[in-house]
Amino acid sequence: MKNLYNIREAKEVYFNEIFNIQKSTYKDFAETNEAVKSRLDISVKTCFVARVKNEIVGYLLSHPWKVNLIPALNTVLDSIPLNTDCLYMHDLAIFKKNRKAGIGEALIKKGIDCAIRLGFIRINLIAINDYAKNFYKTLGFKAKRITHKDSITDLFAYGESAEYMQLDL
Ligand SMILES: CC(C)(COP(=O)(O)OP(=O)(O)OC[C@H]1O[C@@H](n2cnc3c(N)ncnc32)[C@H](O)[C@@H]1OP(=O)(O)O)[C@@H](O)C(=O)NCCC(=O)NCCS
Repeated sequence: MKNLYNIREAKEVYFNEIFNIQKSTYKDFAETNEAVKSRLDISVKTCFVARVKNEIVGYLLSHPWKVNLIPALNTVLDSIPLNTDCLYMHDLAIFKKNRKAGIGEALIKKGIDCAIRLGFIRINLIAINDYAKNFYKTLGFKAKRITHKDSITDLFAYGESAEYMQLDL
């Protein structure tokens, strides 16, 4: 019962809690609040939070995007590009104390439902380490090679183990 959770759409009242989870999760890859907020601002309806009792313990930030295009890390996104063809999952994070209770998977499933509802046929993301790669593989994502040199440079900003992945819906 400790981790009895529910998943809900993100909204402004949760933004500070999202920033706190982000800061407590990432050291090398922590983004500014402005960069995180810009993802919420451009597409809040595709972002979700997990709540345990009265506390927000995790989030999924995603937005429509273009396949094979890597959004630069820690930058403010002003808008969604024209002709989007994927839902891009920018970040998924759960407070350490609440992990391994199915919350990460539940958030991804909510994102998958949302992508299908919006008519997307794929979801893309970057897994930053081996644990994340395996986690996403279990959920059906596959590694996807990217070839454009600018995108490769942007991918390496996420760390040398970063891998671009795709789930075909
Ligand atoms: C990756 C991350 C989001 C996963 O979140 P999570 O809530 O722990 O995910 P889940 O609980 O759905 O699944 C994690 C594991 O717990 C297991 N699990 C799920 N429910 C469980 C339960 N009730 N009892 C025991 N284990 C359980 C899952 O099978 C899975 O096992 P695995 O590690 O062998 O794959 C989390 O580890 C995290 O926030 N990491 C730091 C940020 C990060 O790296 N994000 C990804 C960026 S690419």
